[in-house]
Amino acid sequence: MVSNVCNEQPNSLQNGNDMQAKVYMDYNATTPLAPTVAKEIQQSLFTAWGNPSSSHSAGVQAKLIISKARENLRKMLNSLSSNEIFFMSGGTEANNHVIHSTIKYFKECFNENTDRKPHVISSVIEHDSIIKPLLQLEKEGCLDLTLVGVCKHLGHVDPDEIFSNVQDNTVLVTIMMAHNETGAIQPIKEISSGIKKINEQRVGKSNLSVFVHTDAAQAIGKIKVDVQELGVDYLTVVGHKFYGPKIGALWVHSLCLLNPMLYGGGQEKGKRPGTENVCMIAGLGEAARLVSENLNVYEAHFKKMKGYLKFQLDKAFSSCISYNEMPCATLSNTLNISITSYSLNGREVLNRCKFLLASVGAACHSENGESVSASLLAHGITEEIAKRAIRLSLGRDTSENDIDIIVSDLRSVFV
Ligand SMILES: Cc1ncc(COP(=O)(O)O)c(C=O)c1O
Repeated sequence: MVSNVCNEQPNSLQNGNDMQAKVYMDYNATTPLAPTVAKEIQQSLFTAWGNPSSSHSAGVQAKLIISKARENLRKMLNSLSSNEIFFMSGGTEANNHVIHSTIKYFKECFNENTDRKPHVISSVIEHDSIIKPLLQLEKEGCLDLTLVGVCKHLGHVDPDEIFSNVQDNTVLVTIMMAHNETGAIQPIKEISSGIKKINEQRVGKSNLSVFVHTDAAQAIGKIKVDVQELGVDYLTVVGHKFYGPKIGALWVHSLCLLNPMLYGGGQEKGKRPGTENVCMIAGLGEAARLVSENLNVYEAHFKKMKGYLKFQLDKAFSSCISYNEMPCATLSNTLNISITSYSLNGREVLNRCKFLLASVGAACHSENGESVSASLLAHGITEEIAKRAIRLSLGRDTSENDIDIIVSDLRSVFV
């Protein structure tokens, strides 16, 4: 494999006994650990095994490591204070936590004394860790739900559709920052500023506010994620999407916006109790440091590689390839394609590839084999094209050589 711009991690994987090199292009599903992240985790296994709640030196050492990581996340998100960051098991927990927290807030506003339900606005293209808890809570009668679609002309959700759906019991708008399959970047800043105006109009009429959450799982490490600029109240961080460990964090604009979902010890200011996963937190902090210091390099590399990938795909497939691209800005590491020359669906193509490791959609749907991505359909992609979809997501070390290998691999499926 050709040497790479970031020089952090080899992009090829060795496959079992035949030791055949594979080319991984599924970085939106997960990323490997950056070497310095792995080093940080390994070191902390030996130096920070103490319980961070203990007052002796072993505990203090572990606590210091957590503080350093929290500060690194603060810098990465341009948050005003590291007190706004809460470590959690991952994106699924962070997303569920926001939903539960705002439902509780609604009840507290009425001193638990109301028959009214909180209303939540989200979109049909959200990750399952948002959609499924919302649908479940709606089924249990705990909330009213509005799911907006994707505007075909814009390629992302339409902020005006969100604003027009706000009701006087709306407490939460939750929209992801960038889509995992199409890479479509959502207009979060516009949504936050519109909701801010709605909140200002509510002053004096209601003591309820509408909060804005964004799941930034797919955005961090690929585009700038600045919580002050975005103007959101909550933001989800998922370590394993940016070369960190498989834990996450929730950024919260203000401590009082967060109600605990779990009850136990006083860790994370009592908002997320349980002895901290110190070593993984250390790794997450290092992954955040890498993003703060190298985002421009990563972005430039993704852009260059995506351009090269499209150039090679065009050459190999000319009019037999459909780029399932949106008219809006998209992540520069993500390219969703459908090869239309034969009737093979995306899964069948990938199964016939010798080297390419990619997916047909969100990793958590991969067991649904033949099903067509509901998200792609919602983005206006036709069923014929959507069933052939393959998501190629590039990493920091994807090289031109990797691209040459996978394009010829894909080509060989059709000859
Ligand atoms: C957009 C988005 N949100 C949330 C998650 C959930 O993260 P985790 O599975 O680490 O809890 C993912 C992971 O695939 C994701 O892509």
